Amino acid sequence: MQKYIIHGGKPLSGGIRISGMKNAALPILFATILASGKSVLHNIPDVSDVHAAIEILRSVGAEVIYRPDGIEICTDSVSPGIAPYELVQKIRASTYLMGAELGRFHTTRVAMPGGCDFGQRPIDLHIKGFEALGASIQLSSGYVCGEAPNGLFGSEIYFDTISVGATVNLILASVLSDGITVLDNAAREPHICDLANFLNACGARITGAGTSVIKIKGVDKLHGVDYTVIPDMIEAGTYMVAAAATKGKLTLTDIIPKHMDSVTAKLIQAGTVVEEGINSLTVSSGESIRGIQIKTLPYPGFPTDMHPQFSVLLSLSDETSTITEGIWENRFRYADELCRMGANITVNGKTATIKGQGGLCGVPVKAVDLRAGAALVVAGLAAEGRTEISDVGKICRGYDHLVEKLRDVGADITLVET
Ligand code: UD1
Repeated sequence: MQKYIIHGGKPLSGGIRISGMKNAALPILFATILASGKSVLHNIPDVSDVHAAIEILRSVGAEVIYRPDGIEICTDSVSPGIAPYELVQKIRASTYLMGAELGRFHTTRVAMPGGCDFGQRPIDLHIKGFEALGASIQLSSGYVCGEAPNGLFGSEIYFDTISVGATVNLILASVLSDGITVLDNAAREPHICDLANFLNACGARITGAGTSVIKIKGVDKLHGVDYTVIPDMIEAGTYMVAAAATKGKLTLTDIIPKHMDSVTAKLIQAGTVVEEGINSLTVSSGESIRGIQIKTLPYPGFPTDMHPQFSVLLSLSDETSTITEGIWENRFRYADELCRMGANITVNGKTATIKGQGGLCGVPVKAVDLRAGAALVVAGLAAEGRTEISDVGKICRGYDHLVEKLRDVGADITLVET
């Protein structure tokens, strides 16, 4: 078991280069199954979810080589339906194997996925979408089994709920189908655009990514390409909050400031100073942290993955704030841990009321999921005294070289094996 030991209360200062986006890299890695020949992916973050995805790809026959400038993948020898349960259950993104295998082979058999535990995480929209394209889907003994012996055919699909996962899977399943697919009420996240841009570079014909209506004209074949993944907006957002929470000043580079708009707006409302460059943002603390109201929503709304980190910042205020969760109603399990550090958070249904206590104190806490764990790191950096965070493997799922990046800007954080 690995732990972080943090001695907090030190303002962070300096620059952090933001890595490639985990939530774009994962669908793109699975999308390589659809392209023949070799692809080289650049700016793939060094995080354990990516390593798990690569293990899954290798287990189905992909050849993957780590190069100094990126990851080289050839999926010509992939066989469908053989990904082992032990690998697949490690990451939520293994659902993307279904869309990619159905798209290329018209058959799939994938164990129900793992990932962060926010309670029920249904995949009914993915399944309904595959069926609309002509696949027959059975759920049997924890596996999703799909067959489309006559191939997949373009269809008009309206998603009842905006779902990143279902939008990704239906893009993957339809790019090689016969005819035109229209995805309505699709997710608009930057990682959806990045997936579409990668597939279009491979020869796909996808338009409208980034809007709520995506059109996919099926093509016969895709080819491998060189592609650079976009920067990670959640990693950037986490360090923006860390700058504000530690009363420090950080310049985040290699980012797309536009992707940060909702986070930047809420930081400014809370009293933080944010200066925008072309590919950078400089964040410094204001005179005080003000109480604010936040509701998480699909992009371009405020991201659910930034909710726990903002709870930390708002706990440092002297005022009262609320955060309403619009995506995952069970996303409040971090609150108990934060309360042990001196926060005053009351959860009522989908809303957390945070009565700012002006500060936090270091105690032993546990990372309950990826972003909750990142929030505890921010809390530990801002808190007085020593914070010990256990179960940090959950944080390594999504933060590339977190300890090194934070130490470079003045944090006293150490990874220890216990
Ligand atoms: C979601 C977030 C994503 C975040 C990730 C991990 C959104 C829109 N999605 O992505 O930003 O990185 O969690 O925190 O913000 N749903 C169904 N049926 C389905 C699929 C989803 O009802 O078949 C519902 C879910 O219960 C949830 C909502 O749709 O309430 C969004 O889910 P979805 O976007 O698919 O989840 P992820 O792709 O994991």
